[in-house]
Amino acid sequence: MKVTAIGLGCWQFSKQGNMSGRFWPTLEDELIDKIVSASIEGGINWFDTAEIYGTGLSEKELSRALKNAGKKEGEVLIATKWWPGFRFASNIIKTIDNRIKALSPYPIDLYQVHQPWSFSNVKNQMKALAVLLERKLIKYIGVSNFSALKMKDAWEALDKKGIPLASNQVLYNLLNRKIESNGVLDMAKKLGISIIAYSPLAQGMITGKFQDNPELLKNIGFRKYSSQFSREGIRKSIPVVNLVKELALKYNVTPSQIALNWLINFNGNMVVAIPGATKENHARENIGTMSFRLSEEDMAKLDRASAMFK
Ligand SMILES: NC(=O)c1ccc[n+]([C@@H]2O[C@H](COP(=O)([O-])OP(=O)(O)OC[C@H]3O[C@@H](n4cnc5c(N)ncnc54)[C@H](OP(=O)(O)O)[C@@H]3O)[C@@H](O)[C@H]2O)c1
Repeated sequence: MKVTAIGLGCWQFSKQGNMSGRFWPTLEDELIDKIVSASIEGGINWFDTAEIYGTGLSEKELSRALKNAGKKEGEVLIATKWWPGFRFASNIIKTIDNRIKALSPYPIDLYQVHQPWSFSNVKNQMKALAVLLERKLIKYIGVSNFSALKMKDAWEALDKKGIPLASNQVLYNLLNRKIESNGVLDMAKKLGISIIAYSPLAQGMITGKFQDNPELLKNIGFRKYSSQFSREGIRKSIPVVNLVKELALKYNVTPSQIALNWLINFNGNMVVAIPGATKENHARENIGTMSFRLSEEDMAKLDRASAMFK
């Protein structure tokens, strides 16, 4: 599965359809169309969504917007996720028709287990996913929020059947680099598993907009419960954000482009990122990161400045 280094995160298309959707404002259909079209025009070839994002609403919105953008099935790649909470692995097979219907006519390229907590163990989940693969209902298998050990379990279960584990989708950005110290990145490297970095802009925090204009913090939905958005979280982010802004001036790009560029280049080519967008210009801006490359020296500077977040 050959994806561009930047994909579009589609959690923002949940339309407040459930608790998970309350993180973001309700985006009108027309705006979603513009975000998706801008992403395609900018060269993005894949989209990340999930069942839990508005209980299928994000998937449906994505499919609608892709149709409006004139994309035919097979012309873009789709990653979606099964929600394992309070469910058994058998539910993966039971609910696949709903996922296919929500995304129709676009096939599921990458099917991910959204997080590791489930009534069934990882081995049984992988068995069920392998059935979907054999039935050609999905093309690749991934996991998300899996620790190094759980990821290895998943890899082993699939490897016995000769199936690769394509990816682990995890929280990774310049203000949260825990995967570099908790073994996930090393294990992924060793087993040849790609990392999909979610919240790559630290939900907007790395762009410096909240530090520059604290008024914006009044309108951040459920993000307000995250420690990153607390007074202390904001204070800690300032040295990294200042360096990101300084480099943005140097390269004549935007802070979001600097932050994303570091993510997709710092670890060779094993990390791809899926920034979300609530505005058309977010999408246009974020894609722009694919048209330049930070120097090794500047990547090292960012590495040092954000080392405390490892
Ligand atoms: N697997 C998982 O458990 C998991 C968890 C979280 C996310 N995800 C996936 O990862 C995707 C991205 O993560 P995320 O949405 O949490 O965080 P993110 O991509 O770091 O941040 C997205 C938010 O940042 C702001 N933003 C984006 N581009 C900007 C720009 N150029 N300038 C200024 N602000 C900008 C917008 O906030 P405003 O709306 O405030 O303007 C946008 O809604 C999601 O859409 C989803 O697909 C997966």
